[in-house]
Amino acid sequence: MGGENTKQRKSEAYFGDPGMWGFVHRSFTKAMGYTDDDIRKPVIGICNTFSELNKCHYHFRELVEFVKRGVWQAGGMPMEFPTISIGEPYVKPTTMLLRNLMAMDTEEMMRAHPIDGVVLIGGCDKTIPAQLMAAASVNIPAICLTGGPMLNGRLNGETLGACTDCYRFTLEHKAGNISDEQLSLVENSICRSDGHCMVMGTASTMASIAEAIGMALPGCAAIPAPDSRRRHMAELTGKQIVELVKRDIRPRDIMTLDAIKNAIRVTMASGGSTNAIIHLIAIAGRLGIKLPLEMFDEISSQTPFILNLRPSGQYQMEEYFEAGGVPALMKELEPLLNTDCLTVTGKTVKENLRHVRTGDRRVIFPLDNPLDKQGGIVVLRGNLAPNGALIKQTAVSPHLRKHRGKAVVFESPQDMERRIDDPNLEVDENSVLVLKNAGPKGAPGMPEIGQLPIPKKLLAKGVRDMVRISDARISGTSYGTLVVHVSPEAAVGGPLAFVQDGDEIELDIEARRLNLCVSEEELEKRRQKWTPPAPKYDRGYGLLYVERVLQADQGCDFDFLLPKELRQSNPELTDR
Ligand code: FES
Repeated sequence: MGGENTKQRKSEAYFGDPGMWGFVHRSFTKAMGYTDDDIRKPVIGICNTFSELNKCHYHFRELVEFVKRGVWQAGGMPMEFPTISIGEPYVKPTTMLLRNLMAMDTEEMMRAHPIDGVVLIGGCDKTIPAQLMAAASVNIPAICLTGGPMLNGRLNGETLGACTDCYRFTLEHKAGNISDEQLSLVENSICRSDGHCMVMGTASTMASIAEAIGMALPGCAAIPAPDSRRRHMAELTGKQIVELVKRDIRPRDIMTLDAIKNAIRVTMASGGSTNAIIHLIAIAGRLGIKLPLEMFDEISSQTPFILNLRPSGQYQMEEYFEAGGVPALMKELEPLLNTDCLTVTGKTVKENLRHVRTGDRRVIFPLDNPLDKQGGIVVLRGNLAPNGALIKQTAVSPHLRKHRGKAVVFESPQDMERRIDDPNLEVDENSVLVLKNAGPKGAPGMPEIGQLPIPKKLLAKGVRDMVRISDARISGTSYGTLVVHVSPEAAVGGPLAFVQDGDEIELDIEARRLNLCVSEEELEKRRQKWTPPAPKYDRGYGLLYVERVLQADQGCDFDFLLPKELRQSNPELTDR
């Protein structure tokens, strides 16, 4: 790993083949203007997920040019290729349904071509996890270049953040507190540049994870998309992938269990998205590592929450960048990190952090004076979630941290849409809203609808938060007392399926407890009467998805994409 790699590269085998296929490879490549000098260099694939259907990747065509410049400078030959690109705002029913498809697309593109190393350019929520899953499976030298967050939205001197303020302002509009005109002004001001959402949502969380796990260059995550320093980062990334190929440093040398623990710790210290847990379990699964939910809870309970970013704090990615970004946060966390882990710099975390200074204390709090003594995400267990559920405790209303209330049940997302604002719905601020059949197989694709809307009549009374429970996910930009990822999900007969209106539910975040206060005998009676919902697909990718997707606590990957050894050693992973 240390010195120059002397093994034959894949591109050398392609272009150096003395037979007919070598001739074809060379002549078809030269037809694009490349010369013999070029094709003797290491071939660097650049996975460009530009799409006009994905706003968060709108600037990638330009960014790729800077990556190519770096690749050429370092003596490589860049070859750009596309994969599917999934952006949160448009994709229906949910981008999560397509994450595994993107991971498969990326994996097969990397496998099928004469690529010696790859730069993976992603940004919007599911794209970085999909690319890391692919990199873990293929294990050729790889480096992530994340697209960067948008600049802060601005309106009348106020900072706006996507999409935390998308929820906030549409809620106030629904409550009648702001006019159509005011909402329109917010709509025009919130997304004022290229880039992904600029709060610590899933995209910012996954960009931070790419860096913390060692797969992106230090400082990459927080540079705003339109900042010239992101172009510099693109060039440096292009240079560095050539170095990784020369030294044969591969994703599995970098993404070890210790590196994954660093990524979890950074997520917990940052108030990162609950989605990160599913994605990290899926990435680890591709490496043959099983991550139990308890590991997240353990690291969370030992990690102070120190990053003052929305939706759990005050600032946004732009201020985080100015405060030093992920390297400054990791410097503060250094005593808690595994600093011997190798990174794409070719150096260890410890070496990378040597000259980093701690940033603005209003943004990155000191370890001994944190915003909260423990991390953002808590794992709940109980008879309602035998395999676990998650809550982002840093975004919870203090008065709801311990709560017991009567369930108001919605059997499906469609049922919720139909009835949530019904003036006759029997609900008050102490009720617990329960949504079923919104999980990996039930919805399917586990959409981000776990932030159930507050019923209109309660909004009018000033209620802004309630306990809400579902087998769905939430956007990383969501806030409120939202219990999500309840596992097993309702559609496979998890206890959530048997909750009825009026049942008492107890949430106790401190005790990590989520209980349905109904006797086991009564639950068994309900279980006997239960029939699973009809599958939503009878053909195509949707059918493959519902048949083969794993549960939330197993990362929602397809069972057949895990390494054979992991499937064999964990019979429950064949959850079909
Ligand atoms: Fe792409 Fe939020 S919509 S990151």
